[in-house]
Amino acid sequence: ADPVPLQDTCVADLSSGVTINGFVCKPSNKVTADDFFFDGLKNPGRITSPLGTAVTPAFVLSIPGLNTLGASQARVDFAPGGSNPPHIHPRATEMIYILEGELEVGFITTANVLITRTITLGETFVFPKGLVHFQINNGVKNAAMLVSFNSQLPGIQSIAFTLFTASPPVQTMCWLRRFKLGLRRLIILSRDLLRPP
Ligand code: GLV
Ligand code: MN
Repeated sequence: ADPVPLQDTCVADLSSGVTINGFVCKPSNKVTADDFFFDGLKNPGRITSPLGTAVTPAFVLSIPGLNTLGASQARVDFAPGGSNPPHIHPRATEMIYILEGELEVGFITTANVLITRTITLGETFVFPKGLVHFQINNGVKNAAMLVSFNSQLPGIQSIAFTLFTASPPVQTMCWLRRFKLGLRRLIILSRDLLRPP
C-alpha cells in the first residue's frame, strides 16, 4: 500500500536529517546484507506490559532495507489472558500467522459489524487496512503470532489509549454528558479489554 519504489533498493539512512515521505537512501555502495536482515523475531518477546503481551516490531526502523518497499513484520507474544486491545494501522492491511497457541481475533467494519473467530497454530487471519481490530489469548498457555503488513511503517493507534491518554486530554467527560449511555458502554468495554490478566 505504500508508494511504489523507483529503484531496486533505497536503504534508509536513518541518521540523515532530511525529512521526506519515508527516508532518504544511503549510497548504494554502502549497502550490505545487514540492511535487509533482522533476527529479533526469532525468540519470544519478554512480556512486561500489563496487557500481558510483548510486541516486537520489524519495521523500517529495525530493517532499513524495507524503506520504499511497502512491507514489514512484527511478532506478538501473549501470556494467558493477554490481549492486543482494539487498535488500527492507518497505513496497512495486517496478516497474522499463529506460531503457538490459539487466539480470539476480530475486526469491526465501517458498518459496525464484528467479524471474529478463534484461530490456532498454523492458521492465518487478515485485518483490512484502517479497521479497528484486536487479538486475545483466552487460553491457559502462551500464544504467539507472526504479523505481516503492507507498509514499511504501518503505524499503531490504540482506540482506548487515544481516547483516554492523549495530551492535552480529550474531553471525554463532556461527551459523557452528551451521549450518556453510548460512551459509558464504550468506556466499560475498552477498560475490560485493557484489564491485566
Ligand atoms: C502488531 O503490531 C499488531 O498490530 O498486531
Ligand atoms: Mn494490528
